Amino acid sequence: MNIAVAQSGGPTCAINASLLGVVNEAMRTPEIKEIFGSLNGIEGIVKNNLIDLRAHLDTDDKKALLKQTPATALGSCRYKLPDYDKDSSVYKTITDNFIKNDIKAFFYIGGNDSMDTVAKLSKYMAENGLDIKIIGVPKTIDNDLLITDHTPGFGSAAKFVATVLSEIVRDSAVYDLKSVTIIEIMGRHAGWLTASSCLLHTDGSPAPHLIYLPEAEFSTDKFLSDVAAKLEEYDSVIVAVSEGISLGKAEISKTDSFGHIALSGIGKQLEEVIKNSDIGCKTRSIELNVLQRCCAHIASKTDIDEAVLIGEAAVKAAVLGETGKMMCIKRVSDAPYKTEIFSADAALVANGEKAFPSEWITANKNNVSDLAIPYFMPLIEGECDIKTKNGLPVHLLLK
Ligand code: F6P
Repeated sequence: MNIAVAQSGGPTCAINASLLGVVNEAMRTPEIKEIFGSLNGIEGIVKNNLIDLRAHLDTDDKKALLKQTPATALGSCRYKLPDYDKDSSVYKTITDNFIKNDIKAFFYIGGNDSMDTVAKLSKYMAENGLDIKIIGVPKTIDNDLLITDHTPGFGSAAKFVATVLSEIVRDSAVYDLKSVTIIEIMGRHAGWLTASSCLLHTDGSPAPHLIYLPEAEFSTDKFLSDVAAKLEEYDSVIVAVSEGISLGKAEISKTDSFGHIALSGIGKQLEEVIKNSDIGCKTRSIELNVLQRCCAHIASKTDIDEAVLIGEAAVKAAVLGETGKMMCIKRVSDAPYKTEIFSADAALVANGEKAFPSEWITANKNNVSDLAIPYFMPLIEGECDIKTKNGLPVHLLLK
């Protein structure tokens, strides 16, 4: 049999490690012949735009470079399959291309929207008597997938966020004056990544002095009084804010095919709120933007290792006959950090969102409790050995 693998949704710096896991396990499985990479997610299957991954990854050096390359080496998409009872034409095209290439298993590395594709495709295959396994491999810096303890990609993004925040803390304190620095962090409507900035507190740092998550109610009046109170206590106040909090104004109207609003700019808006208030101190906003998901130079080794393992587990699951599943991580213990991989129905993950737990948000809704630290800490542990040339990291391009 042949297999195909694709990547979908917003990138992470661990998503290519999962691709490597799929390829490594497929190469070790005698019944798997061709290993196809589908370019730009499911769109590559629709357009029969496939590459030969055995040829592209024929040396250990290339595999090592793939593992340290950020973003999706196979490209990505934000493509929503229609319900097949309304429009089955694209399902027929996908099936024709699976059959034409003798593809008996398809691995989709993605987030909650990609699990919608896994659930729909596997249901279609089953209802049409087709023995083609469809398996989801999780990834997202948002860490908002249901059932799994956490998602590959998140740990590295959290390590980057905590690292740059600790550096911003130093930079923001150089002048002998009062200042507020607002850092806008990704995560859509889930505050996990913003919350992970609480890791600075492990070192006794009071920063971030304020952390605002989409899971807690937000008001500009409360924000201004929080900032004013912190300025009484500290000269340099650091605020971590999730891109998903809303000032209650009309949001930007541009959406993708899953209906997601393009979020960004809350940090700048809050900077203006402070500048237009009577607080009157130096104020700066910093939007971490895509840096937090392509920061492979500071990836968490724990995250990258798990991303490989979960890709490998996906192939094992398909070979054992599973389909319509997403591979998940179960946390056995925080310290020592131990996990197990299991599978769950992708339909239970599709389109859902796992919110940051309310019991880990402080009572005044403007920070994260230290109770969250044992959850975050092991995910950022360990450094990867990054190969460089002329002082810069080397990447592997497949497209
Ligand atoms: O879902 C992952 C993510 O990086 C979110 O954190 C962010 O809001 C979104 O993707 C951005 O999507 P895009 O790259 O399509 O603009």
